[in-house]
Amino acid sequence: MKERIAELRSEVDNFIIDGDAALEQYRIAFLSKKGKISLLFDDFRNVPPEAKRETGLLLNELKQIATERYNDFRERLAMTDTFQSTADLSMPAHPFGEGTRHPISIVRNEIIGIFSRIGFTVSEGPEIEDDNHVFTMLNFASDHPARDMQDTFYIEKKSGSESDPHDVLLRTHTSSVQVRVMENQKPPIRTISPGRVFRNEAVSARAHCIFHQVEGLYVAENVSFADLKQTLLYFATELFGEDVRIRLRPSFFPFTEPSAEMDISCNICGGKGCNVCKGTGWLELLGCGMVDPNVLEACGIDSSRYSGYAFGMGIERATMLKYGVNDLRLYFENDIRFLNQFRTEIL
Ligand code: DAH
Repeated sequence: MKERIAELRSEVDNFIIDGDAALEQYRIAFLSKKGKISLLFDDFRNVPPEAKRETGLLLNELKQIATERYNDFRERLAMTDTFQSTADLSMPAHPFGEGTRHPISIVRNEIIGIFSRIGFTVSEGPEIEDDNHVFTMLNFASDHPARDMQDTFYIEKKSGSESDPHDVLLRTHTSSVQVRVMENQKPPIRTISPGRVFRNEAVSARAHCIFHQVEGLYVAENVSFADLKQTLLYFATELFGEDVRIRLRPSFFPFTEPSAEMDISCNICGGKGCNVCKGTGWLELLGCGMVDPNVLEACGIDSSRYSGYAFGMGIERATMLKYGVNDLRLYFENDIRFLNQFRTEIL
């Protein structure tokens, strides 16, 4: 009996199943009521009692293996069937969302486009800076209150609470790139510098510890405040549309003299006054001014020959004004429902 079981086992193993017909033959040969395995079960009666236990185990095992093999093949054939009848290999793959540019990238790229059309290049500088490029060379006196105004993330302080030109810090504004460009290039210089900046501020709807700025710089002979104003008007109409108006208010920055802040007419109410512009009709967009001669000289540029203007703006701020976003935190949470609303051409 044991030999017959072993023989049948190798028959089961070697039976070639290559399709539905062979599978049916297999079933009939081994698993049907009159199949070879059932016949062996019939003969089991004649096995002497002392061999029954061992033979029974072998017989059951054979039946189990043969059945498993049958089920296995049946499943495999069924799968091949559906595959062959439904698969169209020329069909495109599953559609998937294309993704969108982040609104900050959209507006940054738009700003770069606007200024490159009038001859501005793009320059970049390090995010980890030294005090010298962020403050000292930009005409901030060592005890200047503006140093405190910009709550700075220091990485390495050289001398306790004193400020030192060698202090290592995260840049608080992209004006530092002005300095690096002027140190390395001769006028005429016409460049913008987009990038990330860092300030040690509590995160709220109106403030964040990381945000983006674009700095602008033009240095050449006979650059005047009128050039600055016209450039900014061109920029505002390109970014916000033909109907936008601008106004300049006197202001103060250590690195520009004179300095101004530029407002645009409120694009929500058209200047009539609403709760976005707090009834004033104007929205603050950027800081600007004529580069202070001290800054030119610190960078090795002859201030008796050259003059220049500079401006700087927050990209989040510009994006908020352009799209009416009222909470800065939305830019950093990356909620798909927010991001999906911003679509653009390839940019
Ligand atoms: N750096 C200033 C800030 O972070 C912005 C700024 C103001 C840049 C006036 C300028 C400028 O170039 O001329 O608030």
